[in-house]
Amino acid sequence: MISIEAVSKRYPDGTVAVDGLSLEVPDRSITVLVGPSGCGKTTTLRMINRMIELTGGRILIDGEDIQHKPVNALRRSMGYVIQNAGLFQHRTIADNIGTVPRMLGWSKAKARERSMELMERVGLDTSMAKRYPYQLSGGQQQRVGVARALAADPPVLLMDEPFSAVDPVVRRGLQEELLRIQEELGKTIVFVTHDIDEAIRVGDMIAVLRTGGRLAQYAPPDQLLSTPADAAVEDFLGADRGIRGLSFFGTDALTVDPGGIVASDATAQQVSSRATEGLGHLLVVGVDGRPLGWADAARLRESGAAAAGPKGGPAQLLPHGQAFRHGEDSLRVALDCAVLSPTGWAVAVDGEGRAVGVVSQEQIAAAIRAAHSQRGTAPVDVGAAR
Ligand SMILES: Nc1ncnc2c1ncn2[C@@H]1O[C@H](COP(=O)(O)OP(=O)(O)O)[C@@H](O)[C@H]1O
Ligand SMILES: [Mg+2]
Repeated sequence: MISIEAVSKRYPDGTVAVDGLSLEVPDRSITVLVGPSGCGKTTTLRMINRMIELTGGRILIDGEDIQHKPVNALRRSMGYVIQNAGLFQHRTIADNIGTVPRMLGWSKAKARERSMELMERVGLDTSMAKRYPYQLSGGQQQRVGVARALAADPPVLLMDEPFSAVDPVVRRGLQEELLRIQEELGKTIVFVTHDIDEAIRVGDMIAVLRTGGRLAQYAPPDQLLSTPADAAVEDFLGADRGIRGLSFFGTDALTVDPGGIVASDATAQQVSSRATEGLGHLLVVGVDGRPLGWADAARLRESGAAAAGPKGGPAQLLPHGQAFRHGEDSLRVALDCAVLSPTGWAVAVDGEGRAVGVVSQEQIAAAIRAAHSQRGTAPVDVGAAR
């Protein structure tokens, strides 16, 4: 939908902010521009809605050169969100959100109705409608900024470091909210950030820029983590990229062993049939199927789970720790569970939290190797869009 073709920007003072940048921004997905401060992210974003005019190359939207479009119509088709939200301080929240609809000639009542609908959509209580921006927290103001950008339902959203000014916990919430909204609305979003973790969390495609406004790599997040184009990108990605990359692999293909699970009221005889090769423990589960803890397998075989279980002697159960949802959580979560487990084995549960099996660190490592080799790791051409 948005094609950036060999675009450059040279400011009047001679600064080259963007240099021959080519990117194909896919429809209905989040494309992130990420890179260090001053690498031309804001300049690129603002060239898309012509707040800044490019000095070389061209930008097409649905095949049409934006230079040939009336600038007002162009901007109306693009919501714009900035850091610190940029709200009108003397206007209420509802009026802030209704700015563009009112400009488009909507009635006061209709604009207000739309504001309320959008407040709910971005996770704000509508009781805040009459407040002023200073009466909201930074995170809430940022939600208003997103609601305002969505007000006239533009197909495109341009977001410039929208969540950079809020603390990490609030930021996480805003990122999740954005992904939820995107799931519902399917906008074409260009999202600028200097934070690579944020890029990986929200991006369907990530363009890593380097100083001078040149493209270093353009790839989906899992590919970026597994196959950085060069040492500079690798450095920018930071530590643990292998582990972080595991969050893009599912656990559906991971085989878990139900044999290592035993009910808390099992007799010695019933326990004798339960075992998992290589594991000296059994996972004891309650009547609801939820894990209670690990018990020494040999001891259980002598006395039965009922005797060693929580009633018979809770001290004999090792904590089962965190469990992963089989088929739903990533290999990263499964590995984390195994690493933290006192037995070295991770516990898999279903959607209701009932134990479905156990799996060792070695088995998870084998699944990781299989996932890597199955996907292959072909390097991505720099500049090759898509
Ligand atoms: N109006 C301007 N005149 C001259 N240079 C500018 C102007 N705006 C930005 N720049 C320069 O262009 C480069 C890219 O800026 P910018 O796009 O804001 O980077 P980023 O958003 O990645 O931090 C920087 O070196 C910046 O100093
Ligand atoms: Mg910027």
